[in-house]
Amino acid sequence: MKGIVPQSLKLFRIRIKWFIKNYRTIFYNSELFTHELNGRATYKTDGLITSNNSDFINEPRFAKAYHLAKQTNPWNNFTLQWRVYIVCWLADYVKKLEGDFVECGVNTGAYSRAIIDYINFPATNKKFYLLDTFSGLVEDLVSDKEKSAGINNYFGSYKDVYQQVKETFSAFNVEVIKGAVPDTLPLCKAEKICYLSIDMNCVEPEIAATEYFWDKVVSGGVIILDDYGFPVHINQKDAFDKFAKEKKVEILCLPTGQGIIFKP
Ligand SMILES: C[S@@+](CC[C@H](N)C(=O)[O-])C[C@H]1O[C@@H](n2cnc3c(N)ncnc32)[C@H](O)[C@@H]1O
Repeated sequence: MKGIVPQSLKLFRIRIKWFIKNYRTIFYNSELFTHELNGRATYKTDGLITSNNSDFINEPRFAKAYHLAKQTNPWNNFTLQWRVYIVCWLADYVKKLEGDFVECGVNTGAYSRAIIDYINFPATNKKFYLLDTFSGLVEDLVSDKEKSAGINNYFGSYKDVYQQVKETFSAFNVEVIKGAVPDTLPLCKAEKICYLSIDMNCVEPEIAATEYFWDKVVSGGVIILDDYGFPVHINQKDAFDKFAKEKKVEILCLPTGQGIIFKP
């Protein structure tokens, strides 16, 4: 349609820009050519390449959970195994604590679907709250600075997945809350939270949600910032670094790009 740039073309442009910026590093000064990889690459997707052990990918419990995540079909060729492994592992770790699970930024529910299987969520007697517009970012909540950093490339890239998500989670103790964060935050009635996932691609709703839920997150509970280390999301990193300083906590930056906060 006239005026709408197809997603594949947007991605192609991003890749070309990336290549122009980085080709010198790749060809002349790359770790790939200085033997920093100690053997065959075991993981090379989602901004991460390593020869370190990635056996978790084929471990049956994780493989099954990941398969279910993939079946929600967030996009073709979904390959976020390491990020999904981190959310599953952390969910498993905090499930012994008091409190419910909350995810802000759900899309088709890939992470939450994997977690539900991986930790046998029904046996926890907890509730999982899923908050999203279920149709993409709210343009007015994205700053000009974020738009020029590349967040504008997300506009128009999310499909309406509300009905699909309702069906995916209908058998579980899951409440699907549709609408824009921060407006919908009061609809989430969780009084205590042990798992909070923040993944909305932009600063304003993410900081608002984390502020809103902060006092409800129990001691030892985890907050996962999905976009923390990705170059295009630098404004989120800056905002969360400031937030962390105010709350006197440290954010653990993972090579997957995720940022992790444990509530003191
Ligand atoms: C990267 S996706 C989330 C992926 C998800 N965590 C998963 O498991 O695959 C980002 C989501 O944030 C949602 N979103 C962005 N801004 C929002 C806002 N202000 N309120 C609610 N949802 C928002 C989008 O609709 C999109 O579904």
